[in-house]
Amino acid sequence: MELPGNLVAWAITRHELLRELLGDPRVSRDFRAHWPDHDRVGHDWPLSALVFLESFLNRYGEEHRRLRRKVTPAFTPGRIRRMEDTVRERARALVADIAAAAPGREVDLRAALARPLTMWVICELFGVPEDLRERLGTVMDAVVDTTVEPEEVLAQQMELLTCLELLAEHKRAHPAEDLTGDLLLPSDGEPLPHADLIGTLLLMIGAGYETTVNLIANAVHALLAHPGYRDRLVAGSLAAEEVVEESLRLDPPAKYVPLRYAVEDIDLEGVLIRKGEPILVAFGAPGRDPDLNPDRPEAFDPDRASKEHLAFGHGAHFCVGAHLGRMEARVALEELFTALPELALSEEGRELDRIPSFLINGPLRVPAVPHPTG
Ligand code: HEM
Repeated sequence: MELPGNLVAWAITRHELLRELLGDPRVSRDFRAHWPDHDRVGHDWPLSALVFLESFLNRYGEEHRRLRRKVTPAFTPGRIRRMEDTVRERARALVADIAAAAPGREVDLRAALARPLTMWVICELFGVPEDLRERLGTVMDAVVDTTVEPEEVLAQQMELLTCLELLAEHKRAHPAEDLTGDLLLPSDGEPLPHADLIGTLLLMIGAGYETTVNLIANAVHALLAHPGYRDRLVAGSLAAEEVVEESLRLDPPAKYVPLRYAVEDIDLEGVLIRKGEPILVAFGAPGRDPDLNPDRPEAFDPDRASKEHLAFGHGAHFCVGAHLGRMEARVALEELFTALPELALSEEGRELDRIPSFLINGPLRVPAVPHPTG
């Protein structure tokens, strides 16, 4: 596959192979150790924010495990369960604002629910001050656009780094018991190097926000496009979890999370990936792979018995925030459709414009009418 900047990478799209490679120590995300050509692409490359991110996402082996352990305790199922009531309260307040729309008026559910809810949750977890939140959300949205020109890429990266530096500075001046505070604490007697602190803040806030906002937008849109399932959710005969899981299978928010590299030559049934060559894993593909889900893989059907997917990855880099993302989406659906059982798309059957990115999969807007009948 040819990536921006004329870089050629192997794209892995079949479920079985993808699972195998994600669990294989011959595949690494560490660009310094395992991608000899990494300095041939410039920092104005649209993928550089993710590919050269200084954090455990791009580390290998024991170093990856050691750094990842710093954040995982905050995302266990028990910790996430304890957060649910406050997330629900926030979702309810946002839905109440949507419900206040006049009869027949259109509301964009991405802007009015998915975005503010996910941004609020991640900013609360990391103690992002109020006056920085909107600025951070705007630049996070901009960096996933893979169609922008090099000058714009550099300007966005500067803005992103400025926001994160401001956050780190603020937290040093105002220590608090939040996840940024945890990252500032030394572990094994060593503080996290500054570049890793900024990179880890970017990884956690970016991964926590940009994916979950699209999961909610995709799941809400799928229900509105299939009002029979919406009615069953409202009546209590379809669980929101099933809708979330089917949405993850059919429309995964993270299509690709570049890049990986072959640590040594890898022979895939006669196809040779040479040591040092870049590999792009298509997290968006397995859910629709007919070998995995043979029954109408392209259809939205929350009743299907098996909804297997790799939307949260697999192996050493499996998503840290999977329980949190699932919980936020389930709560958003429950609150939205309990308060607004007649919520409908503004224009039935209209294709929605998508985020201009091959990394992220979601609609730019989800226009809906909260009170269609008035
Ligand atoms: C629906 C929501 C989400 C989706 C679809 C998603 C998807 C993914 C995927 C596919 C990966 C694997 C990347 C790879 O192996 O290359 C990943 C990793 C990661 N995710 Fe998520 N994610 C979601 C929510 C979250 C949330 C809420 C957080 C944190 C607050 C988070 C934090 C992370 C982190 C830190 C990693 C890197 C793990 C590592 O390198 O060890 N994600 N995510």
